[in-house]
Amino acid sequence: MAKKKTPEKKGPEANTASRRRGAKTKPMIHLAQFLVHGPSYHSLAMWRHPKTEFTRDNWARPALYQHIARTCERGLFDMVFFADLNYISDSYKGSLEPALRYAAQAPEHDPIPLLSWLAAVTERIGLGATFSTSNQHPFYAARMWATLDHLTEGRAAWNVVTSINRNQQANYGTERAAADTRYDQAHEYMEVCRALWHSWDEDAVVMDKDNAVFADAAKVRRIEHEGRFFKSRGPLNVVRSPQNGPAILQAGTSPKGIDFAAKYADGIFAIQPRPEDAAEYFQAVKSRMDEYDREPDECRILFGAQPIIGESEADAQEQAEEHNALVPLDAGMSILSAHLDYDLSKLPLDAQMAFRTEPELHRMRTRFLKPDGGSMTLREVAARHGQSVGLPQLVGTVASVADQMEAFMDTAGGDGFMITPIYSPGAIEEFVDRIVPELQRRGRFRTQYKGRTQREILRQAD
Ligand SMILES: Cc1cc2nc3c(=O)[nH]c(=O)nc-3n(C[C@H](O)[C@H](O)[C@H](O)COP(=O)(O)O)c2cc1C
Repeated sequence: MAKKKTPEKKGPEANTASRRRGAKTKPMIHLAQFLVHGPSYHSLAMWRHPKTEFTRDNWARPALYQHIARTCERGLFDMVFFADLNYISDSYKGSLEPALRYAAQAPEHDPIPLLSWLAAVTERIGLGATFSTSNQHPFYAARMWATLDHLTEGRAAWNVVTSINRNQQANYGTERAAADTRYDQAHEYMEVCRALWHSWDEDAVVMDKDNAVFADAAKVRRIEHEGRFFKSRGPLNVVRSPQNGPAILQAGTSPKGIDFAAKYADGIFAIQPRPEDAAEYFQAVKSRMDEYDREPDECRILFGAQPIIGESEADAQEQAEEHNALVPLDAGMSILSAHLDYDLSKLPLDAQMAFRTEPELHRMRTRFLKPDGGSMTLREVAARHGQSVGLPQLVGTVASVADQMEAFMDTAGGDGFMITPIYSPGAIEEFVDRIVPELQRRGRFRTQYKGRTQREILRQAD
């Protein structure tokens, strides 16, 4: 249950003031790299973009991702993050064909083993991935994430999702529960994981060789959890990890999703193309955090964006058009149907998406709005979803992309961006080599890491 600490601090202005306490007027921008362990990341044009150097299988090998992680660490990013699904979608037209044909997050290899490969070649950058609360027992998750937190020396980050698509549950032989039930289950899942991570005290390992005492049994406890969804006896058989479990990430937009994030998350990924909607979302989360007695800076909200950088505005526009033309409309329809778990072939292409009443469409409503508040058509929404899963494109020269980032931050309130490339390798390097120095020159981006763990780096304010 949420507890109230400082009622006078509630409200947008108070939160903003609190998060900006200290000398700086404008907050620093945090950056995460949004990836998928597959051939498309978040652009369905990517695997066949002329600058992309994918072969049939090099995207499935660790070398490319190790290069990306090192590049993003050179660029002082908070983290590289892998989204994940456990299915190939047939949500569009009831067929696997569109998803397979267009590589619409199909295939998608498991990102968790990959994180260990990335840990081996990096030292500071956070290493994050999605893992669902709907398919495995929480003991498994607690053990795996604690182990990963050890292997990465405190740089692991877990994006907690409840999994919306019925194909995922079918792969595990279960039925998808209602959204509210999935979030209730996710809360209990986190409580079990937390209890397991706390089942070892920090000083439980004694390592007293003379007296033959490895661990002090008085400092390791059972958890004896018996809840609505899970039972677990504990203790965990992993010693307390550097962050005592990974940093927690979340990406829900429903009231239940916002509540979950406000309670547990160290970072949130959000897609809100219109800065005013981003501002509203930002304040909704930070106000809810206040009710959980958490400081605003304890959870960073990173808004999705897809930068497209050119030598001139015309060159950038040309690059955007070239990229966007590589996404067939049916590819966008396929991936959007998967993300909504709703067959969009049932709707006319000129449907006004923001004003539809189907409950399945409601959760992405703000992504269906035009800058002026009007609705995008299904054709427009599907095209954008295929280009970037709905992330707004930041098109322009180095100076103009940096301007757009600053303007968005200053309207939304912060805390930064989760960016996704249009080709690979190459686009991430370009961002790190050109936009990062520009943001640093403007005093909006860190010049060094402070702190060791992912949680500390997410909280870094300068
Ligand atoms: C930026 C972003 C990234 C997401 N990544 C994943 C993911 O990797 N795997 C997944 O199953 N769901 C993912 N989701 C879906 C959400 O985590 C969430 O399950 C979904 O939005 C439904 O919850 P809601 O109704 O609270 O929004 C993502 C959502 C957003 C906005």
